Amino acid sequence: MPTPHISAPDGAFAETVLMPGDPLRAAHIAERFFDDAEQVTNVRGMAGFTGTFDGEPISVMASGMGMPSAAIYVTELVREYGVKRIIRVGTCGAYAPSLALRTIVAATDVVTNSNMPALLGAPTPIAPTPALVEALHDAASARSIDVVTGTVFTSDIFYEPTDEARERHTAAGVLAVEMEAAAIYSVAALEGAEALAMFTITDHLVTHEHLSADERQLTVDEMLELGCHTAVAAQRAAT
Ligand code: HPA
Repeated sequence: MPTPHISAPDGAFAETVLMPGDPLRAAHIAERFFDDAEQVTNVRGMAGFTGTFDGEPISVMASGMGMPSAAIYVTELVREYGVKRIIRVGTCGAYAPSLALRTIVAATDVVTNSNMPALLGAPTPIAPTPALVEALHDAASARSIDVVTGTVFTSDIFYEPTDEARERHTAAGVLAVEMEAAAIYSVAALEGAEALAMFTITDHLVTHEHLSADERQLTVDEMLELGCHTAVAAQRAAT
């Protein structure tokens, strides 16, 4: 049934949903990578599409920015539409000095400054579903794509008032910062779904390098396509 934030009819989503933050990126994924893509929802401009990739049903639904927005969409997709796995395909800012722009990172562990996981009573550590990490490694190695795995910081704050949080996380070996993975992992775990978050590094918060808008699109496409292959590999492994 349609929810307060998703207008799609029952059965409109595939079992596996890719989740970028940006609704325009959701449309780009559907257009560039899916066959037979159809838009299934657009409430508040938060676009969702379903099609096929390599012959398997697949959907994409934007999360919006930040944990509260992402938590709404994950809850409704899993609870009301029977979605079984969510793969965040996003961008992040590097905290590890050694990480280059364009590197693909997967969050195998998440730390956060948000109270949301504790308020929800989510399990700790905040982590992805091992089967999805395995599907990602399989999909990446089959295409000779390097993926760096490790701890990612999900922050409630984009414009930090000082460098303190970044310096502390860099010193602790945290790879990168983004704003949704902790909500997606926590809500998926509580709702009985699988989850994984993968990113392209578009900003470097230690060296202050940034990708231009054009470079962002081109570079992110490699990770988005890897997300599609990961989704299909995970779905096939589960059936
Ligand atoms: N901070 C938080 N989230 C991000 C960033 C950042 O610098 N870059 C991409 N996502």
